[in-house]
Amino acid sequence: MPKTNLQVLLASRPTGWASESNFRIAETPIPAVGDGQVLVKSHYLSLDPYMRGRMNDSRSYAAKVEIGQVMGGEAVGEVVQSKNPQFKPGDTVLNRAGWQQYGLSDGSDLRKVDPKAVPISTYLGVVGMPGVTAWMGLHDIGQPKPGETVVVSAASGAVGSVVGQLAKARGCRVVGVAGGREKCDFVTKEFGFDACVDHRAGDLVKALAAAAPKGIDIYFENVGGSLLDAVLALCNPFARIPLCGMISQYNAGDDRYGVKNLMAAVGMRIKLQGFIVSDHMERWPEALKELSDGVRSGKIKYRETVTQGLENAPRAFIGLLKGENFGKQLVKVA
Ligand SMILES: NC(=O)c1ccc[n+]([C@@H]2O[C@H](COP(=O)([O-])OP(=O)(O)OC[C@H]3O[C@@H](n4cnc5c(N)ncnc54)[C@H](OP(=O)(O)O)[C@@H]3O)[C@@H](O)[C@H]2O)c1
Repeated sequence: MPKTNLQVLLASRPTGWASESNFRIAETPIPAVGDGQVLVKSHYLSLDPYMRGRMNDSRSYAAKVEIGQVMGGEAVGEVVQSKNPQFKPGDTVLNRAGWQQYGLSDGSDLRKVDPKAVPISTYLGVVGMPGVTAWMGLHDIGQPKPGETVVVSAASGAVGSVVGQLAKARGCRVVGVAGGREKCDFVTKEFGFDACVDHRAGDLVKALAAAAPKGIDIYFENVGGSLLDAVLALCNPFARIPLCGMISQYNAGDDRYGVKNLMAAVGMRIKLQGFIVSDHMERWPEALKELSDGVRSGKIKYRETVTQGLENAPRAFIGLLKGENFGKQLVKVA
């Protein structure tokens, strides 16, 4: 067993775009395991867009990371030492150790998962928080009905790819929005969307109107900015817009985009509702069951980008914010 623990700390708060200089790699001793505690070695770390918000000194739904603290986040790993009767060495667990190789826990943040049921990395993606986010936002706010048109942004990503596949299974016409031809082709050919619009090419309103000829009934919002304006211009009466995230704005600082077409929400009686996946923990078991059944049967497909080595997490994270990932962004820690 090694003696040192590699960690990624927040070194400074970004203004505008985050950069690698906002992070610092540190080596600290692996902590001793006390009574009731569990030491977990991370195998995969999840990188998620919300982490950009945690780097800011601003009000949010969850606490910011302090300067000098380990970057927070979810990981899946293996119990290597335990003085807690609920866990034994060899157990595979989800944990909140964040950006470090080893995490010490009192067990309260650990959840045992079955490494034989699905690949363990998927507990951080399609069979984890991003998958549940897709399921919850689509069902509880989107409320899809057969024949309706659903548009999903960041369609090749962890959340968006699941939204589209679930909406297809409910009999909807599904249109993705993604960056570049390669991602769009994957979204239609592998994830089975009916169409995909490349947000980097041409007139968005025109392309969306062609892909959604009967108008838009549900827009699952992951991106924000001018894309939201384009969608608002095409929404049908009583459209629903689950506001899941607005990644195009996370590095914008004071230059955030001002939405111009919000008046459409009045005339078209559009419902826009934000949500956070942890708001309704009671919904998770039902969602996780459908998602893991879907992955096991092959009905739900997923894609991952796996970056090797914890020291490369800052670069991979910045890449995620720029759209360099293709599917769920993970770091292979060990
Ligand atoms: N509300 C909640 O509880 C909750 C939970 C999880 C995630 N989220 C939100 O869900 C969204 C998706 O998260 P994820 O984990 O699934 O990430 P992801 O989609 O796997 O990765 C982010 C993607 O966003 C797209 N993107 C980045 N900048 C963009 C821009 N300026 N314009 C258009 N697209 C851009 C990129 O795809 P392209 O290359 O296709 O542009 C990038 O690959 C994020 O907004 C996140 O904050 C919310």
